[in-house]
Amino acid sequence: MTGAMAQTAATSRRPGQLRLGVILEGAGTTAEGWRRPDIRPDASIDIQTYIAQARRAEAALLDFIFIADSLFITSDSAPHLLNRLEPLTMLSAVAGATSRIGLVATVSTMFSEPFTVARQLASLDLISQGRAAWNIVTSAVPAASLNHSRPGDFGATDRYVRAEEHVAVCRALWDTFEDDAFIYDKASGAYVDRSKVHSLNFKGDYFQVAGPMNIQSSKQGRPVLFQAGASTQGRDLAARYGDAIFAMTSNMDTAKAYADDVRSRAVGFGRRREDIIFMPRISPIIGTTEAEVDTLYREITRLAKIEDAVRNFGVFFDGYDFSRHRLDDPFPAIAVAAAPADVLAPRADPLKYIETTTPERFAREARRRGLTLREAALEFATPRTEFMGTPEAVADALERWFQAHAADGFIIRGGDFESFARNCIPILQARGLFRVDYEADTLRGNLGLPAAVNRYAAARERQPA
Ligand SMILES: Cc1cc2nc3c(=O)[nH]c(=O)nc-3n(C[C@H](O)[C@H](O)[C@H](O)COP(=O)(O)O)c2cc1C
Repeated sequence: MTGAMAQTAATSRRPGQLRLGVILEGAGTTAEGWRRPDIRPDASIDIQTYIAQARRAEAALLDFIFIADSLFITSDSAPHLLNRLEPLTMLSAVAGATSRIGLVATVSTMFSEPFTVARQLASLDLISQGRAAWNIVTSAVPAASLNHSRPGDFGATDRYVRAEEHVAVCRALWDTFEDDAFIYDKASGAYVDRSKVHSLNFKGDYFQVAGPMNIQSSKQGRPVLFQAGASTQGRDLAARYGDAIFAMTSNMDTAKAYADDVRSRAVGFGRRREDIIFMPRISPIIGTTEAEVDTLYREITRLAKIEDAVRNFGVFFDGYDFSRHRLDDPFPAIAVAAAPADVLAPRADPLKYIETTTPERFAREARRRGLTLREAALEFATPRTEFMGTPEAVADALERWFQAHAADGFIIRGGDFESFARNCIPILQARGLFRVDYEADTLRGNLGLPAAVNRYAAARERQPA
């Protein structure tokens, strides 16, 4: 490469580094995953397992661990969903056993009052010394309502309007104490500066909250906010409040379109495009050779329960009942025919197809490769993605997405995290794409997010002296 070309390549390279988190899922969310020799069957209720995993993630310099959650079980629930620790309680114990890694907990806006949620998260934030984060979810499923004295379903709009108000109240509550409100002057007896403690007197459609809260904020100002909305309302919530956005797509163009859309919406809410960290979910499968990767992949699909895979598969094809076909016959043509006629036409709005593009493409691919329904359903449950391969190949894929602005980082799911940490992270570090030491002692600092400014302190600053 000539000097001039090298300079062009160097200057066109995107600056910055990847953000990485890992989902901890105890005994696993597939029906049979708990039978793997390396999995403790009771891992989802074993705090020592979580502590050990969090410490390994911290040793690998990850930004955070993430604990997903739901509020109901069914007779088909996978082991991890059936019997697991509540995220905030569990992360409070993990906080005491770690010092740098961020702690992200899913909490629903549907069934707890904002005062309770804000207080619990503020407590985790103080216990962890500024490492707490909230993954805001709206719990779509009616089954959760049946456990919370609210029979009936909620429409998406209602859920997200409520969530918007809920988060607005939490944000306001976290500001009720200014950062320097506590004086702690034993000599004068001045404990707190009352002029720096603020009421709310909020009266909304869903919540009425007088305030102030009964806990101060941590050194990161307030907990970091994560969101993963895919619907229009969900993306608006993410754009208005999200510091980091999770997404579920294994297609780079879709990921980029989604990130662009959420960033544009954020600008509409008075934020900067770069204030949002976009993190697709990936399940890397890493081996030293392609043959080893293939063996690992087949082992994972073998452990999936075929009835679950076929039932779940149908959900993505408008609820089509695949069980009427024989498992070992070729993939049925009807599923492809059920897709819209313009399936091959270029998409005017890739986001419109964020949920549907993958199944359509997958169905065509299944017919082309001559897969049976069994093989197709198992592959769909665990898709083959760009993030399967040798450590270099996986690092290449991560870098490709990062350079294309389809991701600022990734949330890693699956048992292969240890292999990812051991084999891929050193490659990313050698390429300057991942940290070699934590930059800060708060999650907000490590994620490189703007400081959280207390609204009352900011208003005071703006006032003429
Ligand atoms: C990485 C990731 C993690 C998620 N974690 C949870 C979770 O813990 N609990 C939950 O109820 N939903 C979770 N979701 C679902 C999202 O909150 C959201 O409901 C979903 O993406 C669909 O978007 P919508 O609600 O706008 O339709 C998660 C989604 C992603 C991509």
